[in-house]
Amino acid sequence: MQRFKDRVVLVTGAGGGIGKASALRIAAEGGAVFCVDLNAATVEATVAAVAAAGGNASGRVCDISSEGDVRACVAACVEQYGSLYALVNMAGVLRFDDTGQLTLGQWQKVIDVNLTGTMLLCREVLPHLLATKGSIVNAASTAALSGLPCGVAYSASKGGVLAMTRSIAIEYAKRGVRANCVCPGEIKTGMTDAVAFPETMDFELISRVMSPTGARGPEVVAGVIAMLASEDGLHITGEDIRVDGGTLS
Ligand SMILES: NC(=O)c1ccc[n+]([C@@H]2O[C@H](COP(=O)([O-])OP(=O)(O)OC[C@H]3O[C@@H](n4cnc5c(N)ncnc54)[C@H](O)[C@@H]3O)[C@@H](O)[C@H]2O)c1
Repeated sequence: MQRFKDRVVLVTGAGGGIGKASALRIAAEGGAVFCVDLNAATVEATVAAVAAAGGNASGRVCDISSEGDVRACVAACVEQYGSLYALVNMAGVLRFDDTGQLTLGQWQKVIDVNLTGTMLLCREVLPHLLATKGSIVNAASTAALSGLPCGVAYSASKGGVLAMTRSIAIEYAKRGVRANCVCPGEIKTGMTDAVAFPETMDFELISRVMSPTGARGPEVVAGVIAMLASEDGLHITGEDIRVDGGTLS
């Protein structure tokens, strides 16, 4: 399948997990991938992995919560490749806090990256997507659809991403630009490996967001992202697709 032949895709969070798997998948399907991450070493590793597999990628360090970084990053992508067909917006952060002890700074950091950062990328790419009739795939989460104990900042940010994506989808539908979300459940990545819980965490409650099939690798989400971003997703917009092995079913 060469669904992204002659097409340029900007992937955020490309240094790890779902973003990296998406970059590899889209490059394997012929796309040129502009890989973006906060972490210089991991984004370069993704670029090298794409090249080793015979694909076309370049990398850029960017803090998606910085308006200046995002503006410069999208401009650099379009200057290098001449156009932009899709945005795969996977950069994000996760933390668990006892809600009664959550500081404003902790809340703000999660909202700044997951919600404001996602919006900044969408805003910057939309003029370019109008030219290619392209699309956006944002990272929401099952946490946007169901309660996540000790995850108020994270679930609020992902609920915001979901609502924002639907609004973009409607606003741009007649102009040929689509916007969708994936809602992953329990996916084994650096994010889930590194997560820390507060002392008060009740693990009986967290088990309700665990998949009956067990955690899967990020490739299971990358395949859905590639479908949504490609012409196979042509009549899908404002949609959120759970990739959670049936957790919320
Ligand atoms: N893994 C899961 O179980 C799961 C479930 C639901 C939703 N998600 C969402 O999917 C997306 C990808 O998650 P993942 O599991 O691959 O996580 P990950 O931690 O493996 O990858 C996230 C990447 O985002 C980058 N990043 C973090 N802050 C950034 C910033 N300010 N600017 C630029 N890059 C930044 C990190 O460096 C990292 O490479 C996230 O938005 C996450 O919230 C993941």
